[in-house]
Amino acid sequence: MPELSVVIVATDSEQRAVLQVLVDGTSVARTVHSSATFPMAGTDPVVRRVQSANPDVVLVDIGAENPTPAIRAIELLHQELPDCPVFAIGSMAQAQVIVNAMRAGAREFIERPTTTTDLLEAFVRLTAAQRKVHREGARGKVFTVVNAKGGSGATTVAVNLALALQSAHGNVALVDLAPLGHTALHLNLKPLFSVADAVRNLHRLDSSLLESFMTRHAEGLQLLAGTNAPAAIEPSTAEFARLFDMLVNHYRYVLVDASSRLDAATRLVCNLSETVLLVAHTDVASLWSAARVLQYLGETGGRERVRLLLNRFRKVPGFSEADAEAAAGAKLLWKIPNQYFAVSAAIDRGVPLMQQTHSEIARSFSGLASTLTQDDDNVKRTAWSLFKTV
Ligand SMILES: Nc1ncnc2c1ncn2[C@@H]1O[C@H](COP(=O)(O)OP(=O)(O)O)[C@@H](O)[C@H]1O
Ligand SMILES: [Mg+2]
Repeated sequence: MPELSVVIVATDSEQRAVLQVLVDGTSVARTVHSSATFPMAGTDPVVRRVQSANPDVVLVDIGAENPTPAIRAIELLHQELPDCPVFAIGSMAQAQVIVNAMRAGAREFIERPTTTTDLLEAFVRLTAAQRKVHREGARGKVFTVVNAKGGSGATTVAVNLALALQSAHGNVALVDLAPLGHTALHLNLKPLFSVADAVRNLHRLDSSLLESFMTRHAEGLQLLAGTNAPAAIEPSTAEFARLFDMLVNHYRYVLVDASSRLDAATRLVCNLSETVLLVAHTDVASLWSAARVLQYLGETGGRERVRLLLNRFRKVPGFSEADAEAAAGAKLLWKIPNQYFAVSAAIDRGVPLMQQTHSEIARSFSGLASTLTQDDDNVKRTAWSLFKTV
């Protein structure tokens, strides 16, 4: 994904500063100019300054008090920069303002207060639409699994959850972003290609090329394998954004095993995720680490989508689930039983637990899969989708 140049037009100085931080925080866009005044006419110098910044997107902030000048600005900018999409930022509660912004030519209406994720998603949608690879209404959901510390069970969870989703819904991809990829071993697969190949070929990556980089498991799950040697050159976050844009256009669910990887790529992918599963154990060191990982991920937004998953769960006298949540700083989503023998044998044999019938632990993964997807049948549509032009 090429870096997008963004112009911000907002009369409220605080909002202008916030938007700039959020835009730059997406890692796929950069603020090239910001304006404190709305243009009043086509001849207004504000219009000239915006034009000379040569933006890919203009963001126009609509204040709650008096939306009219902002709507007028959208109309003018849309007229004067016909090839540049204008995104409106405003309150979803004001239906008439949304309609007026749409009529004035806004391409997207983004909820105010805005998050980096909202903007990132809008930017990714924009580039996807521009490449015309978007299939209407078919974008998949991303779930990312990270561990509080190595050995917590992230890979075990990612592999078995991917298989559970595959058997319930089909069309699932497992993407191995761990510093050293173990998912192929868990699945007893011998991949010919990996994430690195997909990234290296991004410039020509289409659905069929993407498919050719995937390794198919007997259950139908598609694996985009990880690295088998720590990489010398890491792809940029923009490259990851582009790759995930392709993946969600192609698969219904994309499961990511990030394991212990804590870098800008993991932050980006967590921001693109529906839910981030933070895998920890019920002990002080693990929960302390979970809080630190959450803090790191939260610095770029998206803290609210992180859920605690207690693996190898055991009841500790005098220590409640609420205590675990408080120590980690995240809400508990699920507990997975401790079954060391079954789990290690499954990994050693390359036959995941989900392929072994009716064990307690396999039921636990199926339950987790249905919890994560329970709202998916009645897809909620937000207001901006009314005027998506793709
Ligand atoms: N639910 C479980 N019960 C017992 N042992 C487990 C469980 N989940 C994982 N393990 C053990 O923990 C080890 C590390 O798991 P792994 O998924 O590789 O963790 P991570 O990816 O977080 O480093 C595995 O080799 C397995 O033996
Ligand atoms: Mg791992």
